[in-house]
Amino acid sequence: MKNMDQLILGIESTCDETAAAVVRNGSEILSNIVASQADLHEVYGGVVPELACRRHIEVVIPIVDEALAKAGCTLEQIGGIAVAYGPGLIGALLVGLNTAKALSFATGKPLIGVNHIHAHLYAALMELETPPTFPCIGVIISGGHTALVKVEGPATYKLIGQTIDDALGEAFDKVAKMLQLPYPGGPQVEALALKGDPTRYAFRAGRVKEHPLAFSFSGLKTAVLYALKGTSNASVKSELELTPEEYPHVAASFQEAALGDLVDKVLKACELHGCKTVIFGGGVSNNKALRKKMAEREEGKGLELIWPRPFLTTDNAAMIAGLGSYLLKTEGPSSLSLHAETRIPFLK
Ligand code: KG4
Ligand code: ZN
Repeated sequence: MKNMDQLILGIESTCDETAAAVVRNGSEILSNIVASQADLHEVYGGVVPELACRRHIEVVIPIVDEALAKAGCTLEQIGGIAVAYGPGLIGALLVGLNTAKALSFATGKPLIGVNHIHAHLYAALMELETPPTFPCIGVIISGGHTALVKVEGPATYKLIGQTIDDALGEAFDKVAKMLQLPYPGGPQVEALALKGDPTRYAFRAGRVKEHPLAFSFSGLKTAVLYALKGTSNASVKSELELTPEEYPHVAASFQEAALGDLVDKVLKACELHGCKTVIFGGGVSNNKALRKKMAEREEGKGLELIWPRPFLTTDNAAMIAGLGSYLLKTEGPSSLSLHAETRIPFLK
C-alpha cells in the first residue's frame, strides 16, 4: 500500500443487511461484505425491526473483521470510519453507529456520518473515471425511498419529487406477497413478469395533483389486489378470483405500470430541469426491464444514463465508504455525538 493511499472503512446497518467494506481513495473497493438477513425475515414477508436489530448485534464485529481481512489491512491502516447514521430503523441504525463510534474512539480515527440515501446515488458515481457534468437528475428507488433529486455536485442534492405513499421497492415487495412470492419480492416479480403479457391488465400508477414529479403507488397496489381477488370487497369470495396461471400476466402488467410511470417522470424531470445525465441508485435500479425501458425511451434525447453495478444497487457498505471518503475530504469528520436519525429530509 502506498503512503498516500486513503483507506476508509464503511459500516451499514440501516435495515436488514449488516455490511462492512474497505474502499481505497474513494473508489477502489478492496472488500465489500454483506450479511443479508433475508432468511430471518422471509417467513414474516417483511423486515421485523426487533429481529433485525438483534442479528446486527450478533454479526457486526465479525463482518467488520472480515472486511478488514479481505482488504488485507488492519484497523491501524484505516484513515476514517464511515457509517450510515440514517435514515432507517432506529435499533438497526444504533448498532452500526455505535460500533463505528466505538472503533473511532478506540483508534482515534475520524468518524464520518453518511446519509444512506445519498450513498445510494453515490454508488454509481464512485466508479466513474470522470465525474458527470452537473447538474444531473438523481433517481433513488429502493425499498424505503422513491425520490427524484437534482444533483448539483457529488454530494449536493435538491429534492424535486418523491412518493406520497409507498416506495417503489415496497410496492414490488407487496405485490410479490400477493402473488405468493418470497421476500424480498422485487427480483421475483421481475422474473415472473418475463413469462407474462404486460398488456393483459390495464393498471396505472397514481398521479399527484399539481406535482408532476411526485409518485403514488398505493392505488396501483390495491388495483393489483382487486384484480387478483376478482372483487373490491375483501369479505366475499369471488368467482372471478384469478388462478395462478394468470400471475405472470399480473406481475408483468404491474411492472409495466410501475416502471412506465417512473420512466415518464424521470424524462419529465430532465426536461423541466434541463439535465442531460441521469444517475440511478437503490435496489430497484437493478431491474433489467427498467434499464431496458429507460434506454428505449431516452433514445434520440441524448441522455446519459449512469447505473451502478448490480452489487452496488442494494444495501452495501462500499457506497457508505465511498461517500464517506469524499465527505471526509470536503467537509471533515463528524462529531462523536452524531445521532442516529430514522428520517432525514432530503435537502442538503
Ligand atoms: O436499496 P435496497 O437494498 O434497500 C433499501 O434501502 O430500501 O432496496 C431493496 C428493494 C426491495 O424492495 C427489493 O424488492 C427491491 O429493492 N429490488 C427490486 C429488484 N431488486 C431489488 N425491485 C424490482 N426489481 C428488481 N430486480
Ligand atoms: Zn438502501
